[in-house]
Amino acid sequence: MDIEKRIDDLLARMTLPEKIGQMRQISGAPEGTEDLIRQGAVGSFLNVMGEDARRCQRLAVEESRLGIPLIFGRDVIHGFRTILPIPLGQAATFDPEVVREGARIAAREAAACGVHWTFAPMVDIARDPRWGRIAEGCGEDPYLAACVGAAMVEGFQGSDLADPERIAACAKHYVGYGAAEGGRDYNTTWIPEGLLRDVYLVPFQACVRAGTATLMSAFNDLNGVPASGNAFTLRKVLKGEWGFDGFVVSDWASIWEMIPHGFAADEQEAAQLGVAAGVDMEMVSSCFEHLEALVAAGKLPLELIDDAVRRILRVKLRLGLFEHPYADEGRQAVILSAEHRQVAQRAARESCVLLKNEGLLPLSAAISKLAVIGPLADSGRDQLGCWVMDGRGEDAVTPLQALQGALGAGRVVYAPGLADARSTDESLIPEAVAAAQAAEAVVAFLGEDAGLSGEAHSRAFLDLPGAQQRLLDALAATGRPVVAVILTGRSLALGPVVEKAGALLLAWHPGTMGGPAIADLLLGVEAPVGRLPVTLPRTVGQVPLYYNHKSTGRPPADDAPSIPTGTPLDPEGFVSSYLDVDHRPLFPFGFGLSYTTFAYRDLQLSTPQLRLGEALTASVTVTNTGAAKGIEVVQLYVRDRVGSLTRPVRELKGFQRVELAPGEARQVSFTLHTDDLAFHNAAMQRVTEPGAFDLWIGPDAQHGLPAEFTVVG
Ligand code: NOJ
Repeated sequence: MDIEKRIDDLLARMTLPEKIGQMRQISGAPEGTEDLIRQGAVGSFLNVMGEDARRCQRLAVEESRLGIPLIFGRDVIHGFRTILPIPLGQAATFDPEVVREGARIAAREAAACGVHWTFAPMVDIARDPRWGRIAEGCGEDPYLAACVGAAMVEGFQGSDLADPERIAACAKHYVGYGAAEGGRDYNTTWIPEGLLRDVYLVPFQACVRAGTATLMSAFNDLNGVPASGNAFTLRKVLKGEWGFDGFVVSDWASIWEMIPHGFAADEQEAAQLGVAAGVDMEMVSSCFEHLEALVAAGKLPLELIDDAVRRILRVKLRLGLFEHPYADEGRQAVILSAEHRQVAQRAARESCVLLKNEGLLPLSAAISKLAVIGPLADSGRDQLGCWVMDGRGEDAVTPLQALQGALGAGRVVYAPGLADARSTDESLIPEAVAAAQAAEAVVAFLGEDAGLSGEAHSRAFLDLPGAQQRLLDALAATGRPVVAVILTGRSLALGPVVEKAGALLLAWHPGTMGGPAIADLLLGVEAPVGRLPVTLPRTVGQVPLYYNHKSTGRPPADDAPSIPTGTPLDPEGFVSSYLDVDHRPLFPFGFGLSYTTFAYRDLQLSTPQLRLGEALTASVTVTNTGAAKGIEVVQLYVRDRVGSLTRPVRELKGFQRVELAPGEARQVSFTLHTDDLAFHNAAMQRVTEPGAFDLWIGPDAQHGLPAEFTVVG
């Protein structure tokens, strides 16, 4: 029978309490939930797996009146047991294919353990690295986040949700959560509708188009209305304009949190507002227990309950849970398999961004002694990063282990330098200095431990924690060449590191196979290909800093004098900048070096003028001008020069990875349709306005060959 008919049939047989039961999700399976399951008073669990999940499912399928299976959700954020780079690192790959593969192996491992549904991808645009959850998202750019988020949905779900190796995705946190004021988690967000539609909603719509089965409503209040009671974003945009037919789960107790938000007076009102707005399932809190009374009192139409239940049943049916309610544990052999480790290693390798290289990298294979220093050189758990429920530090291969394996333990001298990444005790630094002195080169593994990013882990400073800068300074003072490898969950203010290190590799939190991935790059087995998915600031005082900002009426000159951080100067004209730091970022969005160099020439447009509804082709020739093979991420940006509303100074509209041998040249072409140039005008119509546009094709958001074209109506 067709899915909708099966839903009609079930709905016709369900009592109101059974319907409401489908809308409730409980965390864990403590004693006492058995009766709720038998009564059909719960539709989903989170944080229940394995034997517990099987036991609960059996009660639902065999002992509840209608036998509707439960759906088990879990935070499989960047891998299950085989941990991939944090999502921000995955975004740095600029490679949807490896991202898709990563989500596929995560789904495979999770499904084998009884997980039907992951609370990922997180596609919250974040322009503020103080926010600890920037680690879990895809960076600052809507186009990149849309590509990466959609690839994750495709990887988790495949082409058929009923495939036993796939799981349902959940695009979160809908919406605006990453715009938390001051970067403080759970904080208020104010996003005008045009910005919401042009930036924050874009990756969510891409996930819906990619078929995400579910979305999660966020914690934040958005323009005064909590996201979990927001009829505009949920009912009007998501379910109305976009025609989303899956279901929306609240975030953890976010229905109840409308009370402390000061939006609902009590649990009953919170439930009413949540369901009326479009939340279909409540995660953990018990406000939805009031739904029966609300329907009885005529305060909530039964149709809204039926619609929510229909959506939940639709996803359960699409997952094939009625036919296959139990996990096939025989499939667990894939967990941490060689194939999965290879995917994780490739993703980790591609996520690393080379920010500086004064000819130090790759290290010579003939190096006689390498000093491996730093609190993050041998910390398996820390390299996994935040939001790791099932990954284990002991499964990880650390950089120290990988370098010892590659070079032989006798050629590696190791000293942590600090007891841990946050330590301010400098007593271990002399030992590290001695190790550096005894070696030909130094690699220092610095940055943030896993506990410094993630939910409720915001920071007010973006420097290296503890005494790490002192350690680096001491290593540099030895005169030995120093390579800094930064493991982190967010962008840091790396100016002092750039000053002291001859090479700098940004490795994010790279996951289980971070060690071999980094060793491959350091030793030149592979070349770095990662690009920044965020703009790197010089100091926290520049934040929020993002490349697709507006011009202002007084833009500073591109060649304005560079002001070192903290050096007050007299105003250089009355322009939009700072007195005590350069207005420009330390490294622009999209930036990343390779072990070779690339040159761009012959930018050509198929036409200088196009009509609305037409497309142009922009082509450029990219040449590998160095001595090593390498991959360049060729990026296309545009600027709408004059709009009925002011427009960003640049917007990413495309990127392509091109692999080139030394001396090889290739023409790279992009198709740009006038629809790609659209934005929301003051009347909130999505329009492309005729006029002049700038276009660049280049290696990052600050450089590139320029061209211009005109759109005519
Ligand atoms: C709260 C987090 O905000 C969300 O991302 C997560 O999926 C849920 N808790 C469930 O653990």
